[in-house]
Amino acid sequence: MATPTVDRGLEDVVAAESKICFIDGKEGRLVYEGYDIRDLAEKSTFEEVAYLLWYGQLPTRGQLSDLSKRLESLRSLPVPLRDVMEHLPPNAQPMDVLRTAVSGLAILEPAETKPGPSSIGGALRLTAVLPSIISAADRFRRGLEPLPERPGLSHAAHVAYLLSGKTATELDVRAMDVALILHADHELNASTFSARVTASTLSDLYSAVTSAVGTLKGPLHGGANERVMAMLREIGTIDRAEVAVREKLARHERIMGFGHRVYKVEDPRATILREWSRRLGEENHDMRWYDLLRKVESVVHQEKGLYPNVDLYSGSVYTLLGIPDDLFTPLFAASRVVGWTAHVLEEYNDLRLIRPTALYTGPTRLTYVPIDERVAAEPASAVPR
Ligand code: CMC
Repeated sequence: MATPTVDRGLEDVVAAESKICFIDGKEGRLVYEGYDIRDLAEKSTFEEVAYLLWYGQLPTRGQLSDLSKRLESLRSLPVPLRDVMEHLPPNAQPMDVLRTAVSGLAILEPAETKPGPSSIGGALRLTAVLPSIISAADRFRRGLEPLPERPGLSHAAHVAYLLSGKTATELDVRAMDVALILHADHELNASTFSARVTASTLSDLYSAVTSAVGTLKGPLHGGANERVMAMLREIGTIDRAEVAVREKLARHERIMGFGHRVYKVEDPRATILREWSRRLGEENHDMRWYDLLRKVESVVHQEKGLYPNVDLYSGSVYTLLGIPDDLFTPLFAASRVVGWTAHVLEEYNDLRLIRPTALYTGPTRLTYVPIDERVAAEPASAVPR
């Protein structure tokens, strides 16, 4: 029998058919349901994009207004969830709190999470409530009560208010809207894949999103922008940037915010966020982050030929919006939840259990040794198995 080939990281494996999102990694194009991300980032709002990803078409004015009202009506935290969150340790990571809260909601709101088309209700609920959860997690750890809701705000304005604690300017709201649009979906990225795997077992929507939050948390996926800001703070000033980056590369460290599994040219989201980083820097008379990032970008490109990904400039945008570093990845989740849930709904609609195989490399015919006759051996691997 021919030995099957192993595709580590599933790079060249096509694991699903999907109409939601298309990436052309060679051309640097990202398309949601047929629409180029550059058009959506320039002309639409997060609510419009959410409608597009869930229903497969852009909404009419009436459909958009209905969706916006529904989202606004679903922002409150249930009291039992609030109580649980209040008692979590103040040093808990916001992503861990978010994962726990989504899992808790599944118990409190079982009707919203049933597998099947009715779980669109759960998709709306999660999209509306995630920013409230993230904001409450941040407030509780600082010994503060959650911020009261502000009626009449768009989703982006409400997110900007909840995460920064202040009223956002028009430019800030637009920057937030664009950032939310850019992060809403990205084909079969690791967290979306994990959501689809969970859904493919006929598990419920909230469980699928819980899996996805846990997957997004890793620094190779959602956690990179926070680390970009940490790197910029460590570098400090522009005159130190070149040496600092070269030293990191000499130590074979990965520079966060660069490289991508799919894009072989610049990530189109990075192009858009670079411009927003500049615009917000100018508005705030604070070009420090933008200038440093431009320098880091040029050194990394010169040294490694790597292009920026979405995470390079997003951290500077969020920092200029007044959002703390460790809320960046939760904020990513608050946007990507639309993509996760759209993919889960697509999976429910054409369900096939996702269950790949592994190439077994261990022994197959060992003789069982009774426990008293066993001799302790050096473990073959440092990881207990
Ligand atoms: N810094 C330095 N070297 C890098 C980087 C980087 N950021 N990214 C890739 N490389 C090098 C890597 O060391 C390897 O070199 P060599 O062949 O000499 O060993 C080569 O490029 C190929 O790397 P790879 O890990 O095989 O490529 P991949 O497709 O598995 O990696 C990646 C994709 C995103 C994991 C990787 O580029 C990386 O670790 N980037 C930094 C983390 C980051 O910014 N993550 C956010 C990704 S975008 C968000 C999203 O869409 O989810």
